[in-house]
Amino acid sequence: MTEGYGAISRRDVLKTSAAGAALAGSIGPGGVALAQAEASAPPHAPVRMKVNGKAVSLDLDTRTTLLDALREHLHLTGTKKGCDHGQCGACTVIVDGRRINSCLTLAVMHEGDEVTTIEGLGTPGNLHPMQAAFVEHDGFQCGYCTPGQICSAVAVLEEIRAGIPSHVTDDIGKAPAMTTHEMRERMSGNICRCGAYSNIAEAMAQVAGVKA
Ligand code: FES
Ligand code: FES
Repeated sequence: MTEGYGAISRRDVLKTSAAGAALAGSIGPGGVALAQAEASAPPHAPVRMKVNGKAVSLDLDTRTTLLDALREHLHLTGTKKGCDHGQCGACTVIVDGRRINSCLTLAVMHEGDEVTTIEGLGTPGNLHPMQAAFVEHDGFQCGYCTPGQICSAVAVLEEIRAGIPSHVTDDIGKAPAMTTHEMRERMSGNICRCGAYSNIAEAMAQVAGVKA
């Protein structure tokens, strides 16, 4: 190897290698393993939310979905995991007044948000009107989809009252009518394998004050 401007001499290479070996020796095998573990540890982040009216503070792996934060960290198991892919609606909760699939959103995206789950809508001794209507109209069989159906149904009526159009709204320039047609369309993302759809529609119509 030539000695000269811009060239690296054999002596330089040997010096650099010796320095690297000395550095590795000073960290030691345990230190290297620790550094590697730290580099590969999943990132955590704090998140504060209000869940069913209570302030909660969590430190979560940033990959945690809102659904898993509710079920696994806050032990609110009323919200169900069906598909975990945004296709069944079993995980529907209400966030800042809007219904969302909690399996499709990361918990850390909800810093400062207000989350309502089925546990926050009512209690066995004081049911939300939609919960009471589901019971009255047999709006369920196995009940697995029911928390998501009820959260969705509550938010659907608010969407229609707020004038938000859907695919079946005749004139999007006007507020949508509170009809079973509108309700059924908006509930189409909540799947019920037991097929309790007609009873769910009756329960919603009762709460909305319209004919089923
Ligand atoms: Fe979220 Fe199915 S579990 S949509
Ligand atoms: Fe069984 Fe809907 S009541 S899936």
